[in-house]
Amino acid sequence: MSKTFRIAPSILSANFAKLGQEIENVIKSGTDIVHFDVMDNHFVPNLTIGPLVCDAIRDISKEVGALIDVHLMIEPVDRIVPDFAKAGANIITFHPEASTHIDRTLNLIRDNGCKSGLVFNPATPLNYLDYVMDKVDMVLLMSVNPGFGGQKFIPSALQKLREARARIDAYTKETGREIWLEIDGGVNAQNIVDIARAGADTFVAGNAIFTKGQDSDPNRYDTVVKELRAALATV
Ligand code: DX5
Ligand code: ZN
Repeated sequence: MSKTFRIAPSILSANFAKLGQEIENVIKSGTDIVHFDVMDNHFVPNLTIGPLVCDAIRDISKEVGALIDVHLMIEPVDRIVPDFAKAGANIITFHPEASTHIDRTLNLIRDNGCKSGLVFNPATPLNYLDYVMDKVDMVLLMSVNPGFGGQKFIPSALQKLREARARIDAYTKETGREIWLEIDGGVNAQNIVDIARAGADTFVAGNAIFTKGQDSDPNRYDTVVKELRAALATV
């Protein structure tokens, strides 16, 4: 049986003047999930988009069959969770360093009807998972320091992926419940095979997909998405 691999374009690198169209085109070219990066100029040194934009893209995302994966790079976390749930988020992930009560925040996300997840910065240990595996639907490993698209993949993320994969597999074996393992930062057609072999099943890609952000050709992602899919097919 071939493995299920999901590709999650990070719309941070899309053309914001045509966001709805960009999402429709990129999902139709063979991707699965809208990765929605939320930054607050406090937890990370950049400022991006919030619930208002999430709400604006919810209909088009639903229409093309894509989940909205909200990656919160903000502190504090809890106040804004219900707003994103109301705005159509399907998955909400946050950084453990940004929440004083991690268990409570995971519950809050689920209570608001979303899948929940924890995000690990390059130097953040996986131990945060120790007592909350049952409350986590997605583990997101950062392979860059969060804040900007277009950075280079940090190689130590591969070893961390293997460790996360082992934890998840052991948990799934015991419980039968699936947890997605997502990688975020510097993913491209050259390194995606190594990343998949190390254990990731969900791949965020910003710059690699939206390379020609201002180009108006709706099929311009097709080449790179095909490359990513072809590479994944060899795993
Ligand atoms: C970085 C963001 C990423 C980023 C990925 O803080 O969380 O999702 O946009 O973009 P690339 O693929 O260009 O590294
Ligand atoms: Zn992200």
